[in-house]
Amino acid sequence: MERIVIEGGSPLKGDITIGGAKNSAVALIPAALLADGVCTIKNVPNITDKDALFDIVKLLNCKITESNKEIKIDTRDLKNVLINEELSVKLRASYYFMGVLLSRYKHVEIYFPGGCNIGSRPIDLHLKGFKALGAKVTKRGHKYILDAQELKGNTINLDFASVGATINIMFAAVLANGRTIIKNAAKEVEIINIMDFLNKMGAKISGAGTDTIIIDGVNKLSGTDIEVIPDRIEAGTYIIMGALLGDNLKVNGIIPEHNKALFSKLEEMGVEFSIEGNSVTINKCNNLKCTNIKTLVYPGFPTDLGQPMSVLLTQASGVSIMEETIWENRVGHYPYLQKMGANIELNGLVATIKGKTPLKGTEINATDLRAGAALIVAGLIASGTTMIYDIDYILRGYENIINKLTNVGAKIKLEKI
Ligand code: UD1
Repeated sequence: MERIVIEGGSPLKGDITIGGAKNSAVALIPAALLADGVCTIKNVPNITDKDALFDIVKLLNCKITESNKEIKIDTRDLKNVLINEELSVKLRASYYFMGVLLSRYKHVEIYFPGGCNIGSRPIDLHLKGFKALGAKVTKRGHKYILDAQELKGNTINLDFASVGATINIMFAAVLANGRTIIKNAAKEVEIINIMDFLNKMGAKISGAGTDTIIIDGVNKLSGTDIEVIPDRIEAGTYIIMGALLGDNLKVNGIIPEHNKALFSKLEEMGVEFSIEGNSVTINKCNNLKCTNIKTLVYPGFPTDLGQPMSVLLTQASGVSIMEETIWENRVGHYPYLQKMGANIELNGLVATIKGKTPLKGTEINATDLRAGAALIVAGLIASGTTMIYDIDYILRGYENIINKLTNVGAKIKLEKI
C-alpha cells in the first residue's frame, strides 16, 4: 500500500502539461471494438482506469500494443465472452462494453460495473435505451444478459442528460437498422470526441455536443485513428491549485473553451489568469472573494471540479455555498477538510463554507477520485505534513500527478506503508 505525503506551502512555478481526458479515453477504448480492424488511439492518459479496460479488451481476445501515449487495438479476432465481475467492478466505464457488444453480437453477458462510491449510480437509462432499440434485458444477481433479434432505430428521450447513457446508446445504435434520435442527450465535450471517432470508422452520427443526437445505422465500421481531447477536469484541478499557490504557473495543452464555467467563477472570485492559445498562466490570489456554485451538466460548472473547487472556497473571505446536484454522495472530502481546520457546515449536498481559514496538515482519506484531488489541493496549501490514504482512487484518474506537481515545486511524494 502507498500513501501520498505532502509538505504544504510551496509555490507552484513552471509548466504542467495536461494529458488526454479520462472520460473520453474510457469510452474510446471500448468504442474501438465496434470496428472490424485496427484502431489507433493517441494521447491516451497514463491512468489505472486504462489498465482495467485493457484487461477487458484482452479478455475479449483483442490485441493491444502500446507505445508512448498511443495504443493500437486489433479487433480482428474479437470474441464475445462473459465479462466477469472481477474485471467489470474495477471501473464504472466497463458498462460501455454493453452497448458495444450488443451492437456487434446482439448478445452481451456482463456483471454490473463498479466505480467511485459517489452515489447509487444506476444504469436504468442505458437499459431503457437498449430496450427501445429492441434488446431484452435479463438480470440474474449482479449479472446482466442483453439479447436482441434485431436492433432497430428509435427515438429515445433521456429522463436525465446522462453522459454514460448517451454514449452507450450511440454505441448500440450505430450498427442498428434505421435512424435513432437521442433527445435530452448529454452535451459534454467528450461525447463529440466519441462521435468523431465513430464517424471516422464509417458511422453516420450528427448532433453530439447538442441535446439531440441523430444516428443513422450503418452495416460495418472499420479501423481508424483518433486523438483523445485534453482532460478539462485534470486541467481545472491544476488551475485551481494555481489560484492558491501559482507563481506564474502555466497549464499547457488545454482547450480554454472547455473550462469556461471554471474560468468565469475564478474571475468572479478575483483570480488573475491569462489565456494564450492552449495555455493558461495563473497566479496566487491573496484576496479571494466568496461565491456560490452549483454543479450542473455541461456547460454548467462540472460536478467533477466541485470537490477541488470547495478547497479554494475555504480560502475566500466570506460565506460561499457549494451545492452538488448530480451525484448524491459527492461530499466525502468535507469531513477531512473540517479536520484540517476548514469552517464548513454540510447540509445534505449543500456546503456552507466560511473563509478564510488556514488549513493544517493531518492524516486524511481519499473517499473517491475527485475527493482525493481535493485533498491534494488542501495538502498543498496546509501548514505542516498531510498524509493521504486510499490513494488508488486518485491514480485511477490523474496521470503522473506526483511528477507533474513535483516538477512545478510541490513537496509531494508517494510513500510505501
Ligand atoms: C460521467 C463521468 C463522471 C461525471 C459524470 C457527470 C465518465 C466515465 N464519468 O459519469 O466523471 O461525474 O459523467 O458529468 O464519463 N443516472 C441515472 N440512471 C442512469 C445513468 C445515470 O439515474 O442510467 C444518474 C446518475 O445516478 C447521476 C446522474 O444521472 O446522478 C449523472 O450520471 P451520468 O451523467 O450518467 O454519469 P456517468 O456517465 O456515470
